Amino acid sequence: MVKPRILVVGSANMDIVFSVPRIPNKGESIISENYGYVPGGKGANAVISAARLGADAVFCARIGNDEHGLNLIEAYKRERIDTRYIKIDKNSPTGLAAIFLEEDGSNRIIVYPSANLNLEVDDVENAFLCLPDAVLLQFETSAESVIAATEFAERQNIPVIIDAGPIRPNFPYDRLKSVEILSPNESETAQITGITPTNAETCLQACLKLRSIINAKNIVLKLSDRGCFLHDGKNCEYILSHHVNAVDTTAAGDAFTAALAVEYLRSKNLSKAAKYANIVGALTVTKYGAMTSLPNEKEVIDFMYEKNIRI
Ligand code: RIB
Repeated sequence: MVKPRILVVGSANMDIVFSVPRIPNKGESIISENYGYVPGGKGANAVISAARLGADAVFCARIGNDEHGLNLIEAYKRERIDTRYIKIDKNSPTGLAAIFLEEDGSNRIIVYPSANLNLEVDDVENAFLCLPDAVLLQFETSAESVIAATEFAERQNIPVIIDAGPIRPNFPYDRLKSVEILSPNESETAQITGITPTNAETCLQACLKLRSIINAKNIVLKLSDRGCFLHDGKNCEYILSHHVNAVDTTAAGDAFTAALAVEYLRSKNLSKAAKYANIVGALTVTKYGAMTSLPNEKEVIDFMYEKNIRI
């Protein structure tokens, strides 16, 4: 499949990013060195990433009837994303995320999901008219929209790839239909399973526990600068990360899962897809912001050439 069509059912946010020397203590105010608005949201980051990596990317989302929403739609159109299934919500403003970016590139994020939580089952059903080759989901929209997407995917017999962020307390994981690939990060893994994936043994234990909670065929744990760990139900593999100069880790996980989906559809090879995703994740942390940091196909190829990487 040269150009897979990927439907992303997910969130669209405007991120306001504060660059800070450190996170303030309780009761303390600190000065931000600068701030900026950057298009973000886990769904939007994933759909833009998929498009830049060569997929035919379709976005199903809800934005508000406001300036942020209009700016986001324009940005998606510039990325050649199919925006026909983005609805303008009359009742709630566009989702907003406040991101506190520290000097070492690490961040803390507070999300106000707003219109994202109004995404309805009908919106999702409508979006499946695009006849995607796969659907990519996160947990930043309404639970019903995520569950429905897995149901429509089952009906159309297409794979579901889920990025497990952000953690939603009491999310009914048992209502999700079959998942082809589940990809949580370290903290999501720990929160869902109670097991912190620190080494190969705990990674494997966490994968087994995850499988008892979510009906997933393959699991790929994102371990940030340690790489990733994959388990296909039988075999596991630990793939090391690439050393890069980390400027901002925002959206690295979103880009990783999108790359995983794109390459898995192209090659049908989980190990190859995870290695590709590892490169995309690494490149994403080298730039500032969410949408602004997502690499394109050429940047990935150049990096592989420069570092002599074969996947
Ligand atoms: O994963 C990063 C994203 O999380 C940000 O862009 C922010 O909008 C939140 O959704």
